[in-house]
Formats: sequence, C-alpha cells, structure tokens
Amino acid sequence: MYDHLLGGTDNYVVDREACDELLRLAPSTRELALVNRAFLVRAVRYLARQHGVRRFLDHGSGLPTRPNVHQVAQEVDETSEVVYVDNDPDVLSYGRMMLAEDPETTAVLGADMRETDAIFQSEEVRRLLRDDQPVAALFVSVLHCIPDDDDPWELVNRVARQLPRGSYMVISQLVSDNPELRRQITQFMQQAVGGRWGRVRSTEETERYFEHLEVLETSGPVEVSCWLPDSDLAPRQTSNPEWIEFGAVARIR
Ligand SMILES: C[S@@+](CC[C@H](N)C(=O)[O-])C[C@H]1O[C@@H](n2cnc3c(N)ncnc32)[C@H](O)[C@@H]1O
Repeated sequence: MYDHLLGGTDNYVVDREACDELLRLAPSTRELALVNRAFLVRAVRYLARQHGVRRFLDHGSGLPTRPNVHQVAQEVDETSEVVYVDNDPDVLSYGRMMLAEDPETTAVLGADMRETDAIFQSEEVRRLLRDDQPVAALFVSVLHCIPDDDDPWELVNRVARQLPRGSYMVISQLVSDNPELRRQITQFMQQAVGGRWGRVRSTEETERYFEHLEVLETSGPVEVSCWLPDSDLAPRQTSNPEWIEFGAVARIR
C-alpha cells in the first residue's frame, strides 16, 4: 500500500484497492506517505553530514524506493553501511535484488523487529557494531505496526541500550488526536493487513518514545515535514490532515 501511495509499481491490485478505500477515509494519506519518505531521506542526510554517522540500522525498511537509505548515506560517504530489517517476504525478495548493487556495504535481514536479541546477534548487525562507531537506528513509519501488548516503547528503549555510545534514533509513527478517527483508521488498517497491525496513536503516546532521547533541531517530535524542512522535498501536510506522521531525530543519552 505504501509503495502505491509513493507512486511505485511494486504492488498488487489488492493493495491499490485498499489504498482507494483508505483515501476515501483519509484523503491526505498520499501526501502523508510522501512527506514521511522525504523526512526519512532528510534525516539520514542530516545525520551523515552534520553528525558523521556512517552506520544505519533500518527497522521496517519497506520495499526499495529510490533513494534508499544506503544511497542517501553513500552520497556523503561511499563507505557508509546499512542493514535493512523487514519481515515481509516480498520486501525481502525485492530488497535482496537491490543488494546485488552493493553487497559490501548493504545487507538485508529477514526478521521481526520485535526480536531485538536475534537481530543484534545476527552476523549482519554484529558487523555493523564491530568497532563501536555510532549507529543511527531508524523506526520510520513502522512503530504503529506494533500492538501495545508488544510494547513498542520498550522496543525503542531496548534497541537504544544495545547501540554504541553516541548513537542516534530516527522515529516516526502515525498519529491522530481525534479518537474517532484513530479508531476508524486503525480498524480499517487492521482489516487491510489481516490483523498484523498495531494502532494509530496520539501525540502524547508518541512523545513517550523520546523520553530517554535528546531530540535534535526541534524542541520535541513534530509533524515530520516540519522537522528541518528542505525546500526541495515534499510539501507540508495540508492544514487539516486526518492523520499525520509525527516524529523526530534524536541522540541516545
Ligand atoms: C510503511 S512501511 C515503512 C517503510 C520505510 N520505513 C519508510 O518509512 O519509508 C512499514 C514497513 O515495516 C515492515 N514491518 C511491519 N512490522 C514489522 C515487524 N514487526 N518487523 C519488521 N518489519 C515490519 C513492513 O513489512 C513494511 O515494509
């Protein structure tokens, strides 16, 4: 669905039909997908340029979409390394095709991001952490896929504890402060993806991801197009969107 919203072609009829229905419920959703992807690109470029980050761990990486994280990071330094983590078989097979481009610096790991121990014990992530250089862990537009019972807040804290000192996090999640819309869109998304979904959360619930983090460039998480906006990237979310991607870039304390 996300690939279709971004204008990609790696999607099925059922995805496109679900998007049509979602756009009827929440017409701002295509714009939301575009600003979210632009945020991810901007955050990776910013961390690479301003903070010298050369290692990235991208949780819930999604289908390859140019530019991908490694392409953005390697514009700054061609030795930058990325491990992509996803648990969707289609994402993994497209991701592995993309890897043919650059097996030295880029790896795709098939794993459920809730399995932090298995991820950090994998050969790919151990290599990424080999000499304690700072890593940026990305959780971009993915924490809403995790139900409250699986505690996405503790997941973020767990990953933060495993990363080298001076590492970073990039986080965004779907938010609405209208309880009825939260309920409706969550119900729709859970049906559309066969129940494997968490929920749309409120701004306060999303701010909790940042409790142990130091947010960079803004005083706290924001609608993501407002985080270090660039003139050449996607437009701001319209004044009255049904839902937003809310997040920030942060340093682990
Ligand atoms: C909306 S896409 C986000 C893609 C990318 N992060 C971005 O923001 O452009 C969400 C991705 O998270 C993946 N995902 C959802 N739950 C996951 C889980 N528990 N473990 C790993 N990946 C997951 C999905 O397969 C999908 O590819």
